[in-house]
Amino acid sequence: MAVERTLSIVKPDAVGRNQIGEIYRRFESAGLRIVAARMLHLSREQAEGFYAVHRERPFFEALVGFMTSGPVMVQVLEGEEAIRKNREIMGATNPAEAAAGTIRHDLAETIDANAVHGSDAPETARDEIAFFFRDDEIHSRG
Ligand code: PPS
Repeated sequence: MAVERTLSIVKPDAVGRNQIGEIYRRFESAGLRIVAARMLHLSREQAEGFYAVHRERPFFEALVGFMTSGPVMVQVLEGEEAIRKNREIMGATNPAEAAAGTIRHDLAETIDANAVHGSDAPETARDEIAFFFRDDEIHSRG
């Protein structure tokens, strides 16, 4: 199986609820390694850039407003099938539809404040990782 990297964000709602450790524990328990991490408070420009693909969506303003409402933790996760595995651990976008045992089911309440972000495909992962981290800031470990 291929070792992949994916970009993960612990969103402002989960950071505010003091759930960074709980979320990191779930990544590590599933065999994903945190190979880069940073806390930052996204500027409007950064949030608009990161979510540019959703610019025309009706929820774009709400999404940007929420993502700039407080600090986030941004990390690169590495492991076998990291992209799929991370999305499985996160659960469905809407916490009401997320399976029991997933982060969004267990820790989030609404679709607009849903605790975590994870890249959805290899190309997106590459772009999203490069959005936040230089190569020399990623500490790959076998
Ligand atoms: S889609 O339809 O598959 O493109 O949507 P999805 O990728 O699941 O969601 C894109 C991101 O937008 C957020 N989102 C919302 N924010 C606010 N309000 C509403 N209604 C809403 N619906 C979706 C969702 O959390 C996704 O954020 P990320 O950070 O990519 O997970």
